[in-house]
Amino acid sequence: MANARAARVLAGKVAIVTGAASGIGRAQARLFAAAGAAVVAVDRDAAGVEAVAAGITEDGDIALGLGADLTDAAGIARVVAAATARFGRIDILGNTAGLHDGYIRSLETTDEIWDRVFAVNVKAVFRLTNAVLPGMLAQGGGVIVNIASVSATIAGGGGPAYTASKHAVLGYTRQIAYDYGRKGIRANALCPGMVETGMTRDVLADPTSKLVKAVTSVPAGRYGQPEDIAAAALFLASDAAAFMHGAAMLVDGGLTVK
Ligand SMILES: NC(=O)c1ccc[n+]([C@@H]2O[C@H](COP(=O)([O-])OP(=O)(O)OC[C@H]3O[C@@H](n4cnc5c(N)ncnc54)[C@H](O)[C@@H]3O)[C@@H](O)[C@H]2O)c1
Repeated sequence: MANARAARVLAGKVAIVTGAASGIGRAQARLFAAAGAAVVAVDRDAAGVEAVAAGITEDGDIALGLGADLTDAAGIARVVAAATARFGRIDILGNTAGLHDGYIRSLETTDEIWDRVFAVNVKAVFRLTNAVLPGMLAQGGGVIVNIASVSATIAGGGGPAYTASKHAVLGYTRQIAYDYGRKGIRANALCPGMVETGMTRDVLADPTSKLVKAVTSVPAGRYGQPEDIAAAALFLASDAAAFMHGAAMLVDGGLTVK
C-alpha cells in the first residue's frame, strides 16, 4: 500500500536508518522503503527493529532489521558489514538514534549521564559516519541525514548534556559537509521541534503541563508526529535536495520563530 502512494524517489538506493525501532527512525525507515530504498533498519531494540523490517517487507518493500548497540564499535562494524554483504553498497546514512537527558540541569548531570548521552548522540554518529564514508567516497557519492534537534541551536529542549550533544552533532554535520562535499557527500542536519515519540511520550502525557501548553501554542498549533520529520528526511535524502549541504533544517511547527 505504501508503494502505491509514495513516489519512488529513492529507487535503487540503499539506506541505513538508526533508531528505527521507534518514533522518528521507524517512520523514516518505512518512508524510505516506500520510496524505493532498500533499508537497513538498526536499533539496540533487536526485536522491535526486526518487527519494523518485517512490516516493511510485508508491504512489498525491502528491509533488513539489525539489532545493534551503536555505542559499541563492534556493533557499528557489524551493521556496516551486514548491510554491505546484503546490498553491496550504502548510499544514504540516516543517523537518528538518540537519547534524552530528561531535562536535568548541569548540577544534577553526572559524568556518567553526560557520557551516555554523548556516546549515542555524538560519538555513534561520528563512528558510523566514518564506517560508511570510505564506501561512499569510493562509489563517488552518498547522503548523510543527521537528526539533530531545535536543541542544536537553542536551550530548553533538554538539559545541558542533550543540548550540548545536539549542538555538537550540528557542528559535526557542517564539518562533514565542508570536508567532503566536493567529493560527492551531502551531509545535512534535521532539527525537529517537539514530536510525539517514545522519547517524549511521558512529558506529553499531561495535557495541562506547561510544556504541553508551550509546544501546542506554536504556529502549527500542535506538536509533531514522526511522519512530519520522516517527510523532511526523505527530501534531504533525495536528489531534490541536491543543492543542500551542511544545512540545519528546522521542522518544528514554528517553535523557534520567536
Ligand atoms: N521526539 C522529539 O521531540 C525529538 C525532537 C528533536 C529531536 N529528536 C531526535 O530524534 C531522534 C529520534 O528520537 P525519537 O524521538 O524518535 O525517540 P525514540 O526514543 O522513540 O527513538 C529513539 C531510538 O533510538 C534507539 N537507540 C537509543 N540508543 C541506542 C543505541 N545505543 N544503539 C542503537 N539504538 C539506540 C532507541 O532504542 C529508540 O528505538 C533522536 O536523535 C532525538 O534526539 C527528537
